Amino acid sequence: MGRLDGKVAIVTGGASGIGRAAVERFVAEGARVIVGDTDSEGIGALIGQLGHNSIDGAEVDVRDEAAVERMVNQAIRRFGRLDIAVNNAGVGGFSPIQDYPLEDWDRVLGISLTGTFLCLKHEAKRLIAQGTGGSIINIASLNAIQATEGFAAYCAAKAGVTMLTKVAALELGRHKIRVNAVGPGLVHTPATAGMLAIPGLEDAFIHEAPIGRAGEPEDIANLLTYLASDESSLMTAQTLYIDGGASVNKYPELFGFFGVG
Ligand SMILES: NC(=O)c1ccc[n+]([C@@H]2O[C@H](COP(=O)([O-])OP(=O)(O)OC[C@H]3O[C@@H](n4cnc5c(N)ncnc54)[C@H](O)[C@@H]3O)[C@@H](O)[C@H]2O)c1
Repeated sequence: MGRLDGKVAIVTGGASGIGRAAVERFVAEGARVIVGDTDSEGIGALIGQLGHNSIDGAEVDVRDEAAVERMVNQAIRRFGRLDIAVNNAGVGGFSPIQDYPLEDWDRVLGISLTGTFLCLKHEAKRLIAQGTGGSIINIASLNAIQATEGFAAYCAAKAGVTMLTKVAALELGRHKIRVNAVGPGLVHTPATAGMLAIPGLEDAFIHEAPIGRAGEPEDIANLLTYLASDESSLMTAQTLYIDGGASVNKYPELFGFFGVG
């Protein structure tokens, strides 16, 4: 018996990294999943791996409200209901504030914060109409609470996600819809491969993390499974940091690693 038997989930950014690990784990626990992503090839590969009975793909840019609404409707059309949503699609960027291009700022905020809001909005609307409660999980970051050189847009977006999570939990609790967030530290995914290739950067992160290692997508999927399941039925409005304890220290000084004077 799986921990998510009979449940239907949406995972955005589900074609890669943390989202992909969540899709794999949710299916292993008995859920059926809509994978929402801009990467149609990645979605196709995942459907090839897990089979079309358990997952379906929605090509969606989370900044596009009409596409987000279609993704939510697809969960109902294909699998008959909605119980869980992981709003995971997000991107970062690096620039000193005085040089930060507005276009890059808008991209980071648009995908990581506004995209999360649009998904949350349409998932909440659907779950309220369905009347059976549900669990919505937004992906924040250690950078929601840990200031990091060069990450002005990303830190602001993820801090926004944690407060959005609290407001949503406050409003939606009356409908038995729980809203939590997860704040990973540094995790090995395609998104961080470039950054982690900079000599010494991973060691610098590990030095600040009492557990002494970076994360794997499966570490985050374990926590997401708990938050998605009924085991966490009393938990809402929280951001749970899963970072090897790095939040008690400081983030590595990235200007040095990125050659900013
Ligand atoms: N990897 C880390 O160290 C880390 C740490 C903290 C938080 N996070 C957060 O975890 C989430 C997943 O990150 P990851 O490291 O797995 O990244 P990733 O790049 O491996 O995966 C992100 C996925 O999101 C999709 N995506 C990008 N823009 C999109 C859009 N506009 N609409 C729909 N899908 C889109 C990509 O195609 C990709 O499949 C992000 O929100 C990220 O900020 C990651």
